[in-house]
Amino acid sequence: MKIGIVGAGFVGSAAAYAMVMRGVGTEIVLVDRNRDLAAAQAEDILHATPFAYPMPVNAGDYGDLAGSCVVVLAAGANQRPGETRLELLERNAAVFGEIIPQVLSSAPGAILLIATNPVDVMTQVSLDIARRTRPDMPAGRVIGSGTILDTARFRALLGRHLGISPKSVHAHVLGEHGDSEVLHWSGADAGAMPVAEFAEQIGRPLTDAVRAEIDEGVRGAAGRIIKGKGATWYGIGGGLARIAQAISDDERAVVTCSTVNPEVAGVESVALSLPRILGIDGVIGTLRPTLDEGETTALARSAGILKEAVA
Ligand code: 2OP
Repeated sequence: MKIGIVGAGFVGSAAAYAMVMRGVGTEIVLVDRNRDLAAAQAEDILHATPFAYPMPVNAGDYGDLAGSCVVVLAAGANQRPGETRLELLERNAAVFGEIIPQVLSSAPGAILLIATNPVDVMTQVSLDIARRTRPDMPAGRVIGSGTILDTARFRALLGRHLGISPKSVHAHVLGEHGDSEVLHWSGADAGAMPVAEFAEQIGRPLTDAVRAEIDEGVRGAAGRIIKGKGATWYGIGGGLARIAQAISDDERAVVTCSTVNPEVAGVESVALSLPRILGIDGVIGTLRPTLDEGETTALARSAGILKEAVA
């Protein structure tokens, strides 16, 4: 199970490192237009393998992606001062227009895992580009990391408030990976109990103030981290490794991530995150969680914002 990563910057290399630590796949290939950077990252990460899961980690070119089951696309630019989001999107779409045909020509069977922001729009753009090379490309084989990271942030903060492992908390963030995302409070549970009930029982109730703090903690995380260190990479690296693992192990894990949906909340053909069942063929099922009224409105708003961004 070879995993390819295009873009060996902070996010691509953090994903490779997380894969080595988790034992995802059996071989990693890093591709970057800066070949020296890819080689340096591969060499550095290889040196961590004796402490984790020994596997080859190499730099290569597009031809070396042949046989990959998943190719992570973490290439692209960051916003320049004064540049609009739309201009950034145009630049990153142009970069992907060059990358994706080369990836699919070497690894026609690979699932594309998109990490570049704005990730939902880039996922939609990637599917369009992929279909120029492979018209029958299923939407479920072009997957954006979407809200896997926001879901992790939500679980981490709930776990911290409750004083339990985030692994015992099930709570999803839906919609855009961005400002309009929807924290699915009404579906959250801990220890197989509704999270609010759990919180009451252990004497740590989820008051409005606690909920607001957790909401801000999740929604404002990227902004805070970028302010402090310029970019985020460990959380998303872990999330990309988690998705790649669910696919390469044919795990049937339920994970929130982004693909183009035929319809969400009355909005047609829009990429956003919902809980998905992931296996060797990519997204093999999408769940429509029961939402309360406020969450339903918020998801419709999120879908509308993303549709407008793509248009
Ligand atoms: C994050 O949420 C910036 O998308 C990145 O960490």
